[in-house]
Amino acid sequence: MRTPLVIANWKMFGTLAEARPLATGVRDGLKRFKGVDVVLCPPYTALMAVGEILQGTPIGLGAQNCHYEASGAHTGEIAPPMLVELGCRSVLIGHSERRREMGETDELVNRKVHGALAHGLTPVLCVGETAEERRQGLTFTTVEGQLRAGLAGLDAAAVGRLVVAYEPVWAIGTGVNATPQQAAEVHGYVRGLVSELASKEVAQGLRVLYGGSVKADSADALLAESEIDGALVGGASLNAQGFVSIVKKAARGAATRGE
Ligand code: PGA
Repeated sequence: MRTPLVIANWKMFGTLAEARPLATGVRDGLKRFKGVDVVLCPPYTALMAVGEILQGTPIGLGAQNCHYEASGAHTGEIAPPMLVELGCRSVLIGHSERRREMGETDELVNRKVHGALAHGLTPVLCVGETAEERRQGLTFTTVEGQLRAGLAGLDAAAVGRLVVAYEPVWAIGTGVNATPQQAAEVHGYVRGLVSELASKEVAQGLRVLYGGSVKADSADALLAESEIDGALVGGASLNAQGFVSIVKKAARGAATRGE
């Protein structure tokens, strides 16, 4: 059985003055709450402060990006060991905003996956099609290309250490989430492909999260799908109460599915 996972992606939001009360609100809202893994991904500058607030709780700390090398002359970049030192256990890789705004290619994404794994971080590999690709019937082709490239050179055991987030680009920050059926269809496809690329066991254990305008209202239906193992939440994670309620819905979704 896959434990649901809900990740908060704060993106470029959260000065320390904002991050501290937000992290505290999530921590307090989830006191004694069990059954869902939760990770907060604040901006780099707030990692240490948020890490201190989460200390001694089961809530994990994650980063939104990393470089693929352990150190080097890469001005402005952050290396995996630096994240590990701050208590990060996971890192988002290949988010569509980075692919689009920073020109991250599938090849670079793959290097980052390898770099993160080499230092014990769980890569959360983000994939998803644009509106145009969906319109042209290229959803599976796009996701397949991103997944094959992202997982290149990994053995089955390494693939088993990943999380995949399906985030249709057209659903991110738009207020229009994929329908549970649309998401479940792609999640099933991802699992099938991972079964082929790694193994059936790895695919069965792999957590595939949905991301793109997940809100407290839309979370119930999405998280009730057996193929949807949790959520990657952007905008709605900036409100402690709203985020806590999504996490609680993930637990109910799992219960509904008999997990
Ligand atoms: P959103 O972002 O929830 O604001 O749509 C999700 C994401 O980009 O991870």
